[in-house]
This record gives sequence, C-alpha cells and structure tokens, in this order.
Amino acid sequence: MIEQLYEACVAAVRTAGAIMKSHTGERMSVQFKTSWSDLLTEVDTAVEQAVRSAILARFPDHGFLGEEGGGGWEKEFTWVLDPVDGTTNFAHTLPNFVCSLACYRGREALVGAIYDPSRDELFSAKRGEGAWLNGYRIQVDPATTLRESLVSTNLLWDLREDRALNLPGMQEIGKHVRGIRSLGAAALEMAYVACGRLSAYLQWRLSPWDFGAGLLIVAEAGGLVTRADGSEIDPTQRGSILASNGRIHGEIIGYLQQHRTE
Ligand code: IPD
Ligand code: CA
Ligand code: CA
Repeated sequence: MIEQLYEACVAAVRTAGAIMKSHTGERMSVQFKTSWSDLLTEVDTAVEQAVRSAILARFPDHGFLGEEGGGGWEKEFTWVLDPVDGTTNFAHTLPNFVCSLACYRGREALVGAIYDPSRDELFSAKRGEGAWLNGYRIQVDPATTLRESLVSTNLLWDLREDRALNLPGMQEIGKHVRGIRSLGAAALEMAYVACGRLSAYLQWRLSPWDFGAGLLIVAEAGGLVTRADGSEIDPTQRGSILASNGRIHGEIIGYLQQHRTE
C-alpha cells in the first residue's frame, strides 16, 4: 500500500512541477487573497486541479485537503497539498517555489514529496523507511550548536500580519547563529533542513499544507519538528513550526522562552 501511495505522490508533484515549469520566467498576473501580499496565480489553481483529480481518480475513497480547493480530514486517508508553496517567489520569477504533497492516515503522515522544478530536486520520504533527494538518502545537518548553524525564517510576513511572533526571541537567536536566511517557501525550507542545507527553520502561523510533507521528510532524515514552544504538532491545525536537526532544537527553544514578551 505504502508503495502505491509513494509512487502516486511523487508522480503528482512531478506533474505539478511540469505545469510550473511551463511558465518559467513568465511574469504572472496575480489575484489577491487575504491581502495584497497573499497572492494567487492561475498556476496555483491549475496545479491544484491537476493533482486533486489525479489523486482522487486513483484513490476515490481518500480525502483531499488543498490550499486553494479546501477539504477536510474526515476520511481514513487524507492527501494534503500546497500546489505552489512560494507563490510570491513564483510570481516574481524568483526560483524558490515547490509543490508539496503528503498522504496521511489519521494524524500520521505515510508518504510525502516536495518538488522544486527550478532545480529538478525531488525531496521525498516514506514513513519508517527514510528520506531522499533525487533518490539519494538525506540526513540533517550535523551541527551541535547555533554557532555552526544556518537558520531560516520569514519574519516580515508575520510582522506585517501583526501575528503573535516572538521578535525579541528571534533577535537573540540572530546573535548566536552563523547566519539567518529567508527563502520564502516553507516547504522548501523544511526540505533544506532535511538535507542539511539549513540547520533549522522557524516560522509562526503556518497551515497544514505548508508543512504536511515537510514534517515527514525532516523526521525521516533524522530531524525534529515541533511547535515553536517544543510541543507536539497536530498536523490538522495551523500553528508555528520549528524544524531542526534535533541537536540545536533545545537551544532555539531556550532563547525563545527566555525572551518571550507575552
Ligand atoms: C507561504 C510561504 C511563506 C510563509 C507563509 C506561507 P504560499 O506559502 O511558505 O514562506 O512564510 O506563511 O503562507 O502562500 O506561498 O503557499
Ligand atoms: Ca504555502
Ligand atoms: Ca501555496
């Protein structure tokens, strides 16, 4: 069963990638969703339709939750899709955008795939079997301290939305890390934690489709994913994400807690 799910998951994100790639370098016209910085392009909608219909044609009794088309977690198996993660990058022709898809049984991710069409990089995982980048086994960064770590976050997004982020805590982390990065695509940043390009990724108020596949891929690469306070994640709920190599998790949470303002 898991093989069939995995094969369908990988095939679907590759199809998504081909749709995105057919618009490479094209300055897309955009619609606004919740604000002028929350964008939708025709490609988000086209990818969602293509992936949803391919998956449901093959698994008609499964549930499907997509960022653009909605859905829920009522069925035993649920597919969770972010058709284009990094839509702002995509709309600006900046090549940090991916398709992210995972299949859950209840609250447990069984398979996940994140495909980056710009670099032809496929990050994938099967529960209990490991995580891969283009078929090669991946592992998280070996860093044991923040001083050796590259940490990614997308602070401005949250600032503008006036969301409950811990700015003093983030400033403190900034003093201790080797570098801070911001790639603007949560799923890509989680994939990079999984393969060791980033040591950690920290972000507030993400949605299930942003982290649905990343949760499994990071865990299967030997990393750890929790909420920013270290608590366990219910993948059906929005919230913060701290994905790391596990070794620097405690140090990050420690600074966030020491400098918490509320
Ligand atoms: C967004 C990106 C961004 C993150 C936002 C997400 P979208 O997803 O992952 O990096 O900071 O919270 O909503 O809108 O490009 O799919
Ligand atoms: Ca997203
Ligand atoms: Ca999206």
